[in-house]
Amino acid sequence: ERVALAFSGGLDTTVCVPLLEEEYGYDEVIGVTVDVGQPTPEFEEAEETAETLDLEHYVVDAKAEFAELCFDAVRANASYQGYPLGTALARPVIAEAILEVATEQGCSGLAHGSTGKGNDQLRFEAVWRDSDLEVIAPVRELGLTREFEQEYARERGLPIEGGDEGKYSIDTNLWSRSIEGSELEEPGYVPSEDIYEWTEAPTAETEEIEVGFEDGYPVSLNGEAIEPVELIETLNELAGGYGVGRSDIMEDRMLGLKVRENYEHPAATVLLNAHSALEDLVLTKEERAFKKQIDHEWSEKGYQGLVNAPLVDALEGFIEKTQKRVAGTVTIRFEGGQARPVGRESKYAVYSAEAASFNTEDVTGSIEQDDATGVAKYHGFQERLANRVIENNEE
Ligand code: ARG
Ligand code: SIN
Repeated sequence: ERVALAFSGGLDTTVCVPLLEEEYGYDEVIGVTVDVGQPTPEFEEAEETAETLDLEHYVVDAKAEFAELCFDAVRANASYQGYPLGTALARPVIAEAILEVATEQGCSGLAHGSTGKGNDQLRFEAVWRDSDLEVIAPVRELGLTREFEQEYARERGLPIEGGDEGKYSIDTNLWSRSIEGSELEEPGYVPSEDIYEWTEAPTAETEEIEVGFEDGYPVSLNGEAIEPVELIETLNELAGGYGVGRSDIMEDRMLGLKVRENYEHPAATVLLNAHSALEDLVLTKEERAFKKQIDHEWSEKGYQGLVNAPLVDALEGFIEKTQKRVAGTVTIRFEGGQARPVGRESKYAVYSAEAASFNTEDVTGSIEQDDATGVAKYHGFQERLANRVIENNEE
C-alpha cells in the first residue's frame, strides 16, 4: 500500500514520513511538493530533505495556475481580516495536484501534516474527501506538538533545521509568507525583525512605480507587459525592499480559535492597493458599495479554501461584468512601509473635469450652478421636520 504525503520539507511533514509507515502501516510513502512559488532555497530544502529521508519525491509545477488564482483574488480585492489569503488560496491548488499524482502512482492514501487546530486541514480535506482514497492527518490524529516533533526528529536523526527556522511554522508561496507558532502566538509579544525574510524595515527612501490593468487584471509594470508569475516575484522583491506588506493580525480561524498571525506579502499589497484605486475611479458609488459585499463573500470562501464553490462562480459573474472597465494605470509610491496610490488614469474614468471643477462657469453644457438651489432647499428637509416634532413633544 502506498500513501502520498503533501511534503514541504518542514518539521511537520518530515516527521510524518516515518509515522505513516510505523503508525499507519503503509509500505511506501511518496512525498509530493507542489511548486506554488515558494522561494528557491525553501524548494531546494524540500528536495534535499526528501533525499536524506530516501523519500520517493515528486515535484509538480503549479506556479502559473496559482498566479492566475491570485489575480482572480485581486479582482475581488480579496483579503481576510487584513491577510491577502496566500496560504488559503494555495491549498486547493496543492491538494488537487497531490490527488492527481497519488492517483497516477496507485496510492490508496493521502496525508497532510496540518494540525487539528488550524484551517489547512479543512482546506486539504475539502478536496481530498471527494475521492475514495483514505485521508490521514498524523499530526492531528496522534495529537503531536511541535516540541514532540522536534524531539522525535532528533532521536531519529531526521533532517530538520535548527534555531528559529524550526521553532516557527512557516508557509510560503508567491502570494504570502506566514510565520506562526512559538512566542509569536502570544498576542502581546512584539516580534523581532528577524522573523521577516521578504521585507526590510522601512527607511526614508521612496520610489514610484506604475501598474497597468486590463479587465481588472494586472498586466504591466512601468509600461512593460509582464506575465503574472514574474510580476508577483518582481514586486515581492521591489516592494519588500521598502518594507511594504507586513501584517500582524488577530485571525479568527474557521474552528473559532482567535490566533495571532504574522504575514509578509509585498506584491499582494501593491496589486490590491492599485486595483482598488482604479476601481474607485471607474465604478459608480453604488457599484463600489455593492462590490464590497461581493468581495467580502469571495474572501470568505477563499479563506475557507472553497474557491470552487458555486457561490464563487456566481460572484465572479458580477465581478467579470464590473472588471471590463477596470483598465488603465495606477501610480504607486512606496513610502514609510506603505504602497500608496498617488495617481490613477483610465479611459473609463467616471470623471468630468468640466463638471467637477470650481474654475469653469458653464458646466457640462446644460447644468448651471443655480440649478442646485432647489436641491439645497430640500436637503435635510425630513431631518429638520423630525427634530422639530421631537422638540415640540419634549415641552
Ligand atoms: N492561518 C493562516 C491561514 O489559515 C496561515 C496558515 C499557514 N500555515 C502555516 N503552517 N504557517 O491561511
Ligand atoms: C496548522 O495548524 O496546521 C497551520 C495553521 C492553519 O492551518 O491555520
